[in-house]
Amino acid sequence: MLSRYCSRTTLRAANTALRSFSTTSSQQKKVAVLGASGGIGQPLALLLKQSKLITHLSLYDIAHTPGVAADLSHIDTPAVVSGHLGPEELQSALEGCDVVVIPAGVPRKPGMTRDDLFNTNATICADLAVACAKHCPKAMMAIIANPVNSTVPIVSEIFKNNGVYDRNRIFGVTTLDVVRANTFIAQAKGLDVKDVAVPVIGGHAGITIIPIISQATPPVSFPKEERDALTKRIQDAGTEVVKAKAGAGSATLSMAYAGARFTLSLLEALTGTEGKYECAYVRSDESEAKYFSTPLLLGPNGIEKNLGIGRLIDYEGALLKNAMDELKASIKKGEEFVAKNY
Ligand SMILES: NC(=O)c1ccc[n+]([C@@H]2O[C@H](COP(=O)([O-])OP(=O)(O)OC[C@H]3O[C@@H](n4cnc5c(N)ncnc54)[C@H](O)[C@@H]3O)[C@@H](O)[C@H]2O)c1
Repeated sequence: MLSRYCSRTTLRAANTALRSFSTTSSQQKKVAVLGASGGIGQPLALLLKQSKLITHLSLYDIAHTPGVAADLSHIDTPAVVSGHLGPEELQSALEGCDVVVIPAGVPRKPGMTRDDLFNTNATICADLAVACAKHCPKAMMAIIANPVNSTVPIVSEIFKNNGVYDRNRIFGVTTLDVVRANTFIAQAKGLDVKDVAVPVIGGHAGITIIPIISQATPPVSFPKEERDALTKRIQDAGTEVVKAKAGAGSATLSMAYAGARFTLSLLEALTGTEGKYECAYVRSDESEAKYFSTPLLLGPNGIEKNLGIGRLIDYEGALLKNAMDELKASIKKGEEFVAKNY
């Protein structure tokens, strides 16, 4: 029953992370957003600027950061904002960072899968990871750039190549899948969404996104057809936004919310006052895939404890089985990219 207990408590606790901007610690914390001028980067930076947990918000991009930083710096919250433009200013953006969040890269257009972004985003992530390994090797790395199923192995391989790898500090941000699952299930059952917590495991692309509705808080059940439709909607929610935006990008505002929630959970865990629980895509021994998302207990050194998959009903077990080939192939693709090019 541990997994069930954890998933309930944990995801409820995680739900409160973004809602409470207050801090219990006065420690200095520097957070960098790489890709800070983008559709996700700007609202993410805005949300982070509101947190008293952050003393220095460092904004890096290859375009527009002076303007974004000037704009945000007028907000009357404590975080000092610095803007860093182009590769020659990357070092100053990264030095002393406690957390680095990476939404840099191209988003999907209608008809594209996340894997279609691989060629462009793999290089962007790998180059940024080289700089992070050099200038802030101990920082917690939160990777938003897609395909997350491959970009997390890419960043990990780069850190290994540079002799600074710590598997407990590199995270693929899958929080948006949890946020979507909470929203859709609360709507379906007429529940107050603040009380709803649904673990989502696996990866972050189509069938690799595995909502574990049987472990939801509060317990919910659906007739088969409704459960299938909800599961599919959670898996395809990113595509739903890509289609609705009709060529103007993918999810940015909900992703900024989810990215801020995850970053603030990391920061609260870093201050050491209280562990925080989040699902994230990490190096894992919980399944056949080397990288896998499950609920995690976060602490001052990153992953404190992997809470594992927990008990699955047959339907969810089949989803897990169905995800494995794609997940393993995406991981291999990321690892081979680094082996070949770096
Ligand atoms: N993890 C998730 O759940 C999730 C959800 C939505 C989107 N995403 C992904 O996030 C990424 C960003 O999406 P977006 O909508 O913000 O895209 P965007 O095009 O609006 O912004 C990307 C930003 O990255 C910058 N950039 C490009 N190359 C860079 C480099 N080498 N260094 C620093 N910055 C660089 C661009 O200048 C731009 O400002 C995409 O890969 C998208 O697929 C992930």
